[in-house]
Amino acid sequence: MTTVSSATPTHGNYHNYHGYRYHHPGGHDTRLALLPRELLANARVLDVGCNEGWVSCEIAQLWCARRVVGVDIDDALVRMAWRRRRTLWSHQGPTSDRSDLPPSPGAGTSSRRKRKRASHPTTPPPPSSGAADYFPASCQHMFGPLPIPPADTAPALDSGVSENQFPHNISFRRADWVNERIPEDEAGYDVIVAFSVSKWIHLNGGDAGLKRFFDRVRGALVPGGTFVFEAQPRDSYVKARKLHPTLQENAQTLQIQPEGFETILCSLGFKPAQRLGEPGEGRFRRPVDLYVKQG
Ligand SMILES: C[S@@+](CC[C@H](N)C(=O)[O-])C[C@H]1O[C@@H](n2cnc3c(N)ncnc32)[C@H](O)[C@@H]1O
Repeated sequence: MTTVSSATPTHGNYHNYHGYRYHHPGGHDTRLALLPRELLANARVLDVGCNEGWVSCEIAQLWCARRVVGVDIDDALVRMAWRRRRTLWSHQGPTSDRSDLPPSPGAGTSSRRKRKRASHPTTPPPPSSGAADYFPASCQHMFGPLPIPPADTAPALDSGVSENQFPHNISFRRADWVNERIPEDEAGYDVIVAFSVSKWIHLNGGDAGLKRFFDRVRGALVPGGTFVFEAQPRDSYVKARKLHPTLQENAQTLQIQPEGFETILCSLGFKPAQRLGEPGEGRFRRPVDLYVKQG
């Protein structure tokens, strides 16, 4: 089992990474906003390199995935991710049947005061903006986050939240997902998300590690499943490899360049990339691509 020191973020295991990526209005992820709405709804999703869980939680809470697993190599980040789940639950406002919502993102509130989602929606609501704060920071500070009720597993248990809804539809695991399996892999995923993690896998594991990662993605996706991939560009490797002599050494051996990732993925059985866009600003402006695994 790989153990990771948080002193030097040689795996890109930065703390508060999402603090500086979520700086746009509404605080939602601009990469997720590029995805077709129906892709994540009701899906089993793996978020590789979930960091402190912001993207994973957004997928579980706002994009209505059936099941989300966030995996990260750094134990401390995984603990933060569990904490974020609880915080978001505390802040979650009342919701109602999705049938009365407009078919556009963001309309996730209603006048009902019960913390309940009556049915699993087939189209996710868009991230809401300007919603009331149902659990101000001062409350969390004084009393801690709200407890999470048990999931409704039988009609008699009316906690208002089913096991396919946030916060019961998400969990986190510590693992080096390139080299270790997790129990959830067994059932397969409809969607695997890998945002800004390929550079770290590449620099730590070399070309062989990167190919193993792609092969693991292919193997863990169901036929017709989708790989949502944000690769870091070649020039960003220069600064990263200076973090550690091992990364420097590994960088010298690399034959594969990010421009060649698509060819490898296609050779493994994915259809050609569908470029969704290049969101983000400055050094975080990176392409987001969809790869569909051939059935
Ligand atoms: C730069 S952060 C990106 C975080 C997040 N995916 C995003 O873009 O919002 C890279 C994350 O990948 C994790 N990571 C790196 N290699 C990993 C591996 N082999 N298995 C699991 N997580 C890994 C790091 O710990 C870090 O949290």
